[in-house]
Amino acid sequence: MSETSKAKWRDALPVKKLENGKKKMINIGKKMILLGMQDNHYFATEALCRHMRWPLAWGAKVEDDCIRCPLHQTTHKISDGELVEWSPFPLFPPYGKLVGKMSKQKELAIYETRVNNSQIQVYF
Ligand code: FES
Repeated sequence: MSETSKAKWRDALPVKKLENGKKKMINIGKKMILLGMQDNHYFATEALCRHMRWPLAWGAKVEDDCIRCPLHQTTHKISDGELVEWSPFPLFPPYGKLVGKMSKQKELAIYETRVNNSQIQVYF
């Protein structure tokens, strides 16, 4: 980290407000993130799906180190944001297979988390 970097640990949520298996979309300053707990480990990602900006807190499935958007099933690894699958299943027939081509494939931003003074903190 350079000395000019503004990245730092920021309080996201009190520990008692997030149970295992749950996730929440929260704002920290001007940044919107998804904060979750799976298998007793916290994780934080950018809040909106990279495909068409669906809020991942609304129905995304988390399992096997992956988060899957409910809208068209775009899937990323939670550990590093790597793209696993890009829009394989468009739910809205009128868009058909074109939906997957409507935006450029991107990795999901992942943020480090830790617990400090009963707060879940996120680093960015
Ligand atoms: S908006 Fe998430 S997969 Fe399309």
